[in-house]
Amino acid sequence: MGLSRRTFGALAGSTALGLTLGGSGEPSAAAASAPTGPPPKAPAADGRTHTVGFDRYSMLVDGRRVVLWSGEMHPFRLPSPSLWRDVLHKLRAHGYNTVSVYVSWNYHSPAPGSYDFTGVRDLDLFLRTAAETGLYVTLRPGPYINAEVDAGGFPGWLTATPGTARTADPDYLRHADEWLTAVNRIAVRHLYTRGTGTVVLYQLENEYADHVTEPTGRAYMAHLYRKVRADGIDVPLFHNDKGRNGHWTPGSFDTGGERGRWLYGFDGYPSPFGTPPDWGHYGPGGPRGGSTASPGTPGLIAEFGGGWFDPWGGAEFGGKGYAESRRTRDAAYERRFYLTNLANGITVHNVYMTFGGTSWGWLPAPVVYTSYDYGAAIDEARQPTAKLVPMHQIGHLLHSFPDLAKLDRAPDIDAGAPDVKAYHLVNPDTGAHIQVLRNDGSADTVAAVPLAGATVSVPLPARDARLLAAGISLGHWTLRHSTAQPMLRLAAGRQDIAVFTGRTDELTETALECPHQPAVTVLEGTADCTHRDGALYVRARLGSLTRISVHGGGPAAPLLLLLADDAASQRLWHRPTPSGPVLVHGPALLRTAELRGATAELTGDTVGEADLEVWAPRGVTEAAWNGTRLRMGPTRSGSLRAEGRLPGAGAVELPALTGWRRSAENPESAADFDDSAWRTAELTASAATTPVPAGSPVLFADDYGFHYGDVWYRGRFESAGGAGSVSLSYVTGTQGLLMAWLDGRPLGTHRMPVPDRGTVRRATWTATAEFPLPSAAGSGGHVLSVLVRRMQHDQDGRADDTHKAGRGLVQVSFNGASPAVRWRIQGEAAPDPVRGPLNNGGLYGERNGWHLPGFPDQDWRPARFPRAERRQGVVWYRTGFRLAVDPATDASIGLTLTDEPSRAYRVQIFLNGWNMGQYINDVGPQHTFVLPNGLLRTRGDNTLALAVLSDGTTDSGPGVVELTLLGRALGGVPVTRVESPGPTSPRT
Ligand code: GAL
Repeated sequence: MGLSRRTFGALAGSTALGLTLGGSGEPSAAAASAPTGPPPKAPAADGRTHTVGFDRYSMLVDGRRVVLWSGEMHPFRLPSPSLWRDVLHKLRAHGYNTVSVYVSWNYHSPAPGSYDFTGVRDLDLFLRTAAETGLYVTLRPGPYINAEVDAGGFPGWLTATPGTARTADPDYLRHADEWLTAVNRIAVRHLYTRGTGTVVLYQLENEYADHVTEPTGRAYMAHLYRKVRADGIDVPLFHNDKGRNGHWTPGSFDTGGERGRWLYGFDGYPSPFGTPPDWGHYGPGGPRGGSTASPGTPGLIAEFGGGWFDPWGGAEFGGKGYAESRRTRDAAYERRFYLTNLANGITVHNVYMTFGGTSWGWLPAPVVYTSYDYGAAIDEARQPTAKLVPMHQIGHLLHSFPDLAKLDRAPDIDAGAPDVKAYHLVNPDTGAHIQVLRNDGSADTVAAVPLAGATVSVPLPARDARLLAAGISLGHWTLRHSTAQPMLRLAAGRQDIAVFTGRTDELTETALECPHQPAVTVLEGTADCTHRDGALYVRARLGSLTRISVHGGGPAAPLLLLLADDAASQRLWHRPTPSGPVLVHGPALLRTAELRGATAELTGDTVGEADLEVWAPRGVTEAAWNGTRLRMGPTRSGSLRAEGRLPGAGAVELPALTGWRRSAENPESAADFDDSAWRTAELTASAATTPVPAGSPVLFADDYGFHYGDVWYRGRFESAGGAGSVSLSYVTGTQGLLMAWLDGRPLGTHRMPVPDRGTVRRATWTATAEFPLPSAAGSGGHVLSVLVRRMQHDQDGRADDTHKAGRGLVQVSFNGASPAVRWRIQGEAAPDPVRGPLNNGGLYGERNGWHLPGFPDQDWRPARFPRAERRQGVVWYRTGFRLAVDPATDASIGLTLTDEPSRAYRVQIFLNGWNMGQYINDVGPQHTFVLPNGLLRTRGDNTLALAVLSDGTTDSGPGVVELTLLGRALGGVPVTRVESPGPTSPRT
């Protein structure tokens, strides 16, 4: 016998309506009456004022419940503003409704008082684009962020200032305020409350865990709160608590009397091999349990692992490459962990990262290499991966079924299978029941769960999960139960459409409330449909798209039931328009959908040829795809289908890289090099936390204003008679090195010992290089030239100023003599006004524009790759190449370097003057460097410059250097060229 929705609740033992609390922990009238009806429209800068609040269940936007299903991306890791739109389109299309962004202070500030938000740093443009795309924004400007960026986001210049960072030290606060003023000036223009943007949440600090109980920590947070409010940020604020310790819950610090506008948030990166943790409201409880620490605010996960970062050196050192991150945190991981989060009442859910991007230039923190692909759902080359499938399905589910924004825990159920954990929840307003079933075992199994009065069999692959629903509204229809996961519902034309998903070949049963026998037509695929107990039972094995049309039987509108396997679900695109929703099936991506009169104007991407089918509001009879009008015909599914197929992307030809020219540099090593313009190293006190040895001048580069990349030293001394060797102690980030020359002759290279698994996160690396001295050093005047590749500054994770660990030489001593040495120092030139402070270090070539397009290299000697040259020092190679990619094709292109892995050299890669990162041939693991379109002229001329640093112990390359196609689609977004001035072109 079937059960009605009303009786089901009683039988399953649903809970009573719980007390609804406001954000401050007070009962809230608005929240109690917050409708769970149709989902709110996609946000836009619509010129209207809005309210953004919350209760213990969810965010409340204009009083309506919204689950924020968010993906993290960093505009600073994609230095081509046009492509921001591409990634944001992909997020939106795949079901995310929110983008979360860190803003990195160092990226915008070359010097105290100097803030740049232009070009690739145009935060205003990013926030505008997010609003145009229909995404909410969570803004996270620090001041400290971490994100595996240099100094955790602190500018290089901050390392040379007094004042303890991340405390209430007034010297630090002065700088932090300056940054917040600059960033908030832009942020206030994009607040959803004002209708001028879509920012709905704003984070203060990040993982601030070390001064929590100290007055300085509390004063610091209180200061940031007041500052941000004084700057006009009126959306709810939160902090991201590392370790879920209940730090910074509402009421834990002074918010100036303001109540109910502060949320508790935390992050988590659980091992993909363990059991998903219960960190939400329905977890084991206790202040360390996650959301339970703050019963009055919704479950907010500011970051949940969507992959993981990877250290230099590959598997031996703990890194395994991003393919491994993507494999261990695959689609099934996402279902297991993210559905567990939802089952725990987490309704603000941000996946870090969803698009990782590139830590170009000197942006990466010492713990990572250039690629920040992260194994994320969208890869570094902007290509969708299989990890988007669950995100797409769950994102659309949350959007279609607001029941999920307000769930109470319901009595436990037995899943009837030993390894299966079952969560049972109920929406107290609608009576809808939700179950999350998770198989933690390593074998496939079948759960047998009570659902809507029946016991249903649910196939659960090993280490996988699914969400089941009962009693949710499908428009005029009501779901009794389904063993497939609901994905979306909409009304198009006269019919309701409901989509359910699962894995290919799974046998599913979907039961729809239906008092009388309806007329059922299986339009595609096979399904067995029977009417009994007041419901229509549809049994179907999933494969592509099964379509069942149901008329009559009670509900006042026909229903089109679509059962989609993963691949088919990924080709279904749902988009609201002011005249009603549109559902598109077929292409690889739907970017935009607008209704103009009788025409559905659609834009998007195809990879191969694709069908196009559209369900649209009544009166829509035509469709256009990327501006081309299509011949459409009606189908029995109530849709319009294009008569022909949409074309796929054509071939993309990439030229071989030839015509290289070569020039060696490091003239700084020569005895007679003119260093008179260099700074004299004469400081006696340093801002660094690394002690300055007694009797030594300060040699740390930051104290002299040099913050990024390589730094040169030249020390003059008179006769070091009796000295058998010289010892140079130095400090760098991981993979740093030091090279020395005496009067132009190489003394040798020392490499910082490579961290292993245990030390990879260690704060600082110091080492001492000792080189034997030739006997000639004993008399006359000499010059000791030293090049230090510093790598980057440490982060300041424990708020103890570790970003101020020194970088460069610490001390130089002669063993057996003590000549007086007069040091001069030279690092990077003034920051590139377009490419920013992190683009360049202090190599001679960089200081003299060898990396720039248009640099006159015609006198350089021709060179062919592979090279085999043994030399300590720096050699540059330059060439140009021309691309002619079809303008309608979005080709994603990388540069791949390969060589015999024992060769000890590294390469900085400059594309049109932009530093695309560092390749270390004998360390790895990265070989391919993404070249973002916009920087890369896909129709035009490009300049590549490679600065090769080799230590002279082996032959050095480059070996093979080639362009690689990383993805292609017909469609894409219009791409504006990123300004790339040469040595003489004025900034435009
Ligand atoms: C988090 C931190 C992020 C990032 C992440 C690991 O703990 O908040 O900024 O570092 O870890 O990628």
